[in-house]
Amino acid sequence: MIEITGRKPIRKAVFPVAGLGTRFLPATKAIPKEMLPIIDRPLIQYAVDEAREAGIEQLIFVTGRGKVSIVEHFDTAFELEATMTGRGKQLDVLDATRIQPGNLVTVRQQVPLGLGHAIWCARAIVGDEPFAIFLPDELMIGSPGCMKQMVEAYNQVGGNLISVLEVPHNQVSSYGVIKPGARVAEDLTEVLGLVEKPKEDEAPSNLIISGRYILQPEVMRTLENQGKGAGGEIQLTDAMARMIGGQPFHAVTFAGRRYDCGSKAGFVEATLELALAREDMAKDARALIRRLAAQID
Ligand code: UTP
Repeated sequence: MIEITGRKPIRKAVFPVAGLGTRFLPATKAIPKEMLPIIDRPLIQYAVDEAREAGIEQLIFVTGRGKVSIVEHFDTAFELEATMTGRGKQLDVLDATRIQPGNLVTVRQQVPLGLGHAIWCARAIVGDEPFAIFLPDELMIGSPGCMKQMVEAYNQVGGNLISVLEVPHNQVSSYGVIKPGARVAEDLTEVLGLVEKPKEDEAPSNLIISGRYILQPEVMRTLENQGKGAGGEIQLTDAMARMIGGQPFHAVTFAGRRYDCGSKAGFVEATLELALAREDMAKDARALIRRLAAQID
């Protein structure tokens, strides 16, 4: 299907979920990091909701050993549903976990060789279409959602897009960092270069890549021939950097909030802020936070 603009729409999303989640051990010994809940929804559910809001139909999970529960989360739980129905309970709480048959595909990354390698594992399913990538441990909350905002930008400029956000300069060495070019619109900047985990004094900016991407399928061929980068891993950032110049490349500044739920502090922050934002929890959460704050000197 080709849109009026001549651009292929973004119908597919890759969710790399094969990482080991070592920062959350021992919790992640038997449970995937992506199944850890922020209040009552696992991280993967927030990412899938964001993808669907952006019009994405096909979900591609790059999984590994011990990640079966992610797929089961989006399956029909026959016994649970039969029992709940028998007890007269509503099933709408499960609505977000329902996927149209055929729209969830999994592929295994046998060895966690890095994010770039995980994406490359999905090449046959992605085929010759532009596609989205979601890192589910980066929780993006906003209205519109981050990917919806990116798809709207894609409809204007095409090519490749990444979401970025500003961090303090002393934190850049933990992230992929962009070299920004011309500002195209208020939330859209040209990308001239990318570097993974630069030293603080060598970083081209303090704008970091924040877990959402729209990429052209050519990135798969770039990844094919790529060696290891920072941390001995096959880095997606390195492959994207090699595509700059050949195809349009832009950074979208997300208008909402981003929580790094791959870190413990970010996970707690997300839990508290989302509790404060929820109608059913705000009152209790406010009282709890006030009580805790009063104990801090
Ligand atoms: P992280 O760098 O957060 O690694 O990966 P991790 O293994 O999940 O967590 P820690 O650092 O050990 O605690 C970023 C994203 O890339 C995926 C992860 O699942 C996560 O979504 N990933 C990473 C893979 O799918 N495969 C890999 O080889 C590496």
